[in-house]
Amino acid sequence: MTDLRPLADDDIEPFAAVLSGIDPWRRLGYSPSMLALYLGRADPALTRMVLPGRGLIALRSPWLRGPYVELLAVLPEAQGQGGGRRLLDWAEGRGGANLWACVSAFNHPARAFYARMGFAETAALPGLVTDGEDEILLRKSR
Ligand SMILES: CC(C)(COP(=O)(O)OP(=O)(O)OC[C@H]1O[C@@H](n2cnc3c(N)ncnc32)[C@H](O)[C@@H]1OP(=O)(O)O)[C@@H](O)C(=O)NCCC(=O)NCCS
Repeated sequence: MTDLRPLADDDIEPFAAVLSGIDPWRRLGYSPSMLALYLGRADPALTRMVLPGRGLIALRSPWLRGPYVELLAVLPEAQGQGGGRRLLDWAEGRGGANLWACVSAFNHPARAFYARMGFAETAALPGLVTDGEDEILLRKSR
């Protein structure tokens, strides 16, 4: 599998367009411009990496005694082929006593994926992103 590389400027618009059209971002109301702003803005604590043509991860560190997976996405046509695991393995390789993530309660496929990857659901965060939708804080301790 092609290895990870840093997100490039040319990656931003295509990823923003696709992510805005799929859940959880579609249901949470993220537009392409909101996602492009997030992916492109200067943020020295956020490392953005891509699996070329397949997916991306944004990792915030330092966070809470370990880094926080702020965004994780594998493109629809590339799902179920190990890309999500590869991106999380990279995040785990960055060290820290914990690895954290958040998942929308309605996102049952991603909840199953994170459980498979060893994360525990630790807290419900009602209405964190959008009124009426719960987010769930996930923790993998090491
Ligand atoms: C959730 C997501 C990141 C998973 O990535 P993926 O590349 O499809 O998953 P992988 O192929 O790497 O799967 C890794 C493991 O999780 C398991 N898994 C993945 N999706 C699963 C599901 N829906 N139910 C049960 N297990 C699942 C796989 O079977 C695999 O297990 P194995 O290696 O022991 O066989 C990806 O589907 C995605 O981006 N979805 C849309 C966006 C999203 O929900 N992002 C995360 C929340 S913000």
